Amino acid sequence: GKGLFTYDPGFVSTAATESKITYIDGAAGVLLHRGYPIEQLAEKSDYLETCFLLLHGELPSDEQKAQFVSTIKNHTMVHEQLSHFFNGFRRDAHPMAVMCGVVGALSAFYHDSLDIHDEHHRLVSAHRLIAKMPTLAAMVYKYSIGQPFMYPRNELSYSENFLHMMFNTPCEEKEVSPILAKAMDRIFLLHADHEQNASTSTVRLAGSTGANPFACIASGIAALWGPAHGGANEAVLNMLNEIGDESNIDKFIAKAKDKDDPFRLMGFGHRVYKNFDPRAKVMKQTCDEVLAELGMENDPLLKIAMKLEKIATEDEYFVKRGLYPNVDFYSGIILKAIGIPTELFTVIFATGRTPGWIAHWNEMISEGYRIGRPRQLYTGHTKRDYPA
Ligand code: SDX
Repeated sequence: GKGLFTYDPGFVSTAATESKITYIDGAAGVLLHRGYPIEQLAEKSDYLETCFLLLHGELPSDEQKAQFVSTIKNHTMVHEQLSHFFNGFRRDAHPMAVMCGVVGALSAFYHDSLDIHDEHHRLVSAHRLIAKMPTLAAMVYKYSIGQPFMYPRNELSYSENFLHMMFNTPCEEKEVSPILAKAMDRIFLLHADHEQNASTSTVRLAGSTGANPFACIASGIAALWGPAHGGANEAVLNMLNEIGDESNIDKFIAKAKDKDDPFRLMGFGHRVYKNFDPRAKVMKQTCDEVLAELGMENDPLLKIAMKLEKIATEDEYFVKRGLYPNVDFYSGIILKAIGIPTELFTVIFATGRTPGWIAHWNEMISEGYRIGRPRQLYTGHTKRDYPA
């Protein structure tokens, strides 16, 4: 029998926590951060303001915002010693493998502020993580192409600074395109939080043991890496490249529907959204704007993506199962237009998701919690004796 426990593989109907941060209505395609619709935040707010909102529960006053931005800028550099850590990796290491390592390693630099029961310590860790993720992401990239690391430049905005560290070199510092910086900011913002998804749940579970926040976020990064979760943005672009031509779409749709074939349409489907993912709508709009501004409206991958979306969303298989493009479907096309290499896409997701992870961790620690400890239905051997 099923004993005393509720059996809910995949946590389809189990709420693991209460939370005041993010609300999703999957049937209606609604996403609210602290009550504010994602569409309005994408249009009127910016990434750092949304970080403040997620962390503190309210939009900042002008003064609070200026203070927050300045605090984040204070923390953009990483300890010089951390840069040596990279040398232990092969240059062709997957960027997410390196991120799991370097973000976890950050905890080794902050022994003086790892008391998770001290509210100020928690806040400093949150600031450090939000500030250092783009620095580390750009370092991962620079290391992979054999270029020197670029130091952050604090007169730039969060997203400008990221693009500066990614694409400038000590020999040539170009001005960052405001169009690309805005697109980058929008991408970070659209990823900022999504309630109890697999990586956030991982962060909470790790945090419930009392582990330090850098270790917890590293566990979230590891969980995000999988193609069913954040790894989907990289997988989408690889899939669109593999499709290669509109004439091949039907073949890939047939493969995705074939239950004997492990292939699934990447960037399609969602555990909670069964009508549409509101972030995908904003992402598509951003994609159109960015490509138009860059004069890349005829991008062949965008054409394939749009045709694929049209065919899939009219196909009975996908309609019946409520499978629609999710947040990861169009983000890769924008990231590619910005010049971000495909292997780095999931690192971008991790960077954008950091405030969500840390806000959930902070909420859990500040509101009281118990160690997360799921039970199981044992289906193995009954007791037996070791052979004489
Ligand atoms: C993210 O949870 C979050 O909030 C995540 C996220 C966030 O912001 O944190 O939104 C970010 O992870 C987006 C999702 C990125 N993943 C992908 O794009 C990969 C492709 N998608 C699928 O693997 C899948 O749809 C999931 C993982 C997103 C959802 O998995 P579920 O909820 O367990 O759904 P399921 O596998 O039970 O699917 C139901 C049915 C099945 O068919 P039947 O067995 O009922 O016949 O739909 C089919 C599935 O086989 N199906 C697909 C499909 N996704 C589901 N068939 C073809 N192509 C697909 N993509």
